[in-house]
Amino acid sequence: MANNEALTEKTLILVKPDAIQRGLVGRILERFETKGLKLVGLKMMTLDEAVLREHYAHIADKPFFPGVAKFMQSTPVIAMCFEGLEVVETVRRITGITKAREAEAGSIRGDFAMSVSCNVIHASDSVKTAEKEVKRFFKSDDLHVYDKSEYMHVYGEDERSV
Ligand code: PPS
Repeated sequence: MANNEALTEKTLILVKPDAIQRGLVGRILERFETKGLKLVGLKMMTLDEAVLREHYAHIADKPFFPGVAKFMQSTPVIAMCFEGLEVVETVRRITGITKAREAEAGSIRGDFAMSVSCNVIHASDSVKTAEKEVKRFFKSDDLHVYDKSEYMHVYGEDERSV
């Protein structure tokens, strides 16, 4: 089971300050857990200037960047790393689109948020980005390897084998 590399695809989620303030952490975590994803890393942290600049380098020249930076440092965030088959795409779908008030009902943003900035979570947008983002927030020692017994009920046999 643990040998199937496809099952160890990883993605990064940041629970943003609006969700921390509104007490949504448990409900957000529950959405991913009940979907059948495997939690392999979890930490609360305050984003320093260096991490923030690196993480948001792609929007550094946008007029809204200073607001995003201030918001993301207004409380600690919770970083989560989940593993699973095609997990990056799956998590993006569960997350919903950036402009939360237009996000599909049933998605996390669709159900819990109204804003483009206060949109409760960040989720890696591609496998390549996820690889970089997971390394940005987790040292290899902070990521855990274990067998999830539930997998035999979450995936079909063909999906569990190499
Ligand atoms: S996404 O979801 O990452 O694909 O969103 P993206 O469009 O790339 O936007 C990157 C982050 O910038 C925030 N954002 C904004 N904040 C304030 N005002 C406006 N107009 C705006 N547009 C985008 C958005 O919340 C994204 O944050 P992350 O942490 O990436 O979700």
